[in-house]
Amino acid sequence: MAVRIDGKAVSAAVRARIKAETEEFIRATGVTPGLAVILVGSDPASQVYVKNKKKACEELGFYSESYDLPAETAEGELLALVEKLNGDSRIHGILVQLPLPAHIDEKKVIRAIVPQKDVDAFHAENVGHIMIGDYRFLPCTPAGVMELIHSTGVKVEGKECVVVGRSNIVGKPMAMLLLHENGTVTVCHSRTANLKEVCRRADILVAAVGRPRFVTADMVKPGAVVIDVGINRLEDKKLCGDVDYDAVEPVAGYLTPVPGGVGPMTITMLMKNTLAAAKATVE
Ligand code: GUN
Repeated sequence: MAVRIDGKAVSAAVRARIKAETEEFIRATGVTPGLAVILVGSDPASQVYVKNKKKACEELGFYSESYDLPAETAEGELLALVEKLNGDSRIHGILVQLPLPAHIDEKKVIRAIVPQKDVDAFHAENVGHIMIGDYRFLPCTPAGVMELIHSTGVKVEGKECVVVGRSNIVGKPMAMLLLHENGTVTVCHSRTANLKEVCRRADILVAAVGRPRFVTADMVKPGAVVIDVGINRLEDKKLCGDVDYDAVEPVAGYLTPVPGGVGPMTITMLMKNTLAAAKATVE
């Protein structure tokens, strides 16, 4: 029976450290870390994420601004807002919630954020830093996953690590972080042949495909650490991960639930990046 990895508890411990560090930083410099969150449209999942980000700012004593823009906002208007925030000294981190409506070019918007305020670490310059292991910001979700893996006491070094999913937000940077800790990393995707066999090799399996209950018990090596990044909403409105939790639980060694696993960690790492961005302005 797998040990359940409690993302809320790990997240609370990390947030307590960030809070103490933030208080010390504000005392020493008079600068309050500031985050601007931009939401375009009314996607219900995005609204929940944005609400939780605001809540985290309040909890940690950060300054925050939020912009709820209508779905029909013109690309130029969004770019102008990003430009204004780039030049605003109260704002250290800018987060544009993805996905954006189809008429807005996501790449263009990400490129418009100054890399020093790109607390998602989506800008090519920050992705480059991640690639060479010289981090300015850690990519939020993958960094949260690493914290959860560390919480198990299982060492990544020398282990077979399999990441299912190759998105720019999770799969690709996840592979880099595992590699930097000396894991032997395989990235799988929709065209991978023998997916089941490849996943079964994994001592550490990270599922980030965005398909409900995609990872089944026969894809998991007995005793493996299984991290479920998926947040899928079922027809009955319930949330469910990319891993079939009930089926995998008897096989895995450690397993994250959904909700209450990776989700709380992502926002915590965003706060960590925002504090780092604020600190960099006074160094
Ligand atoms: N949409 C889903 N995950 C994320 C994230 O980590 N950052 C942003 N900006 N949008 C997202």
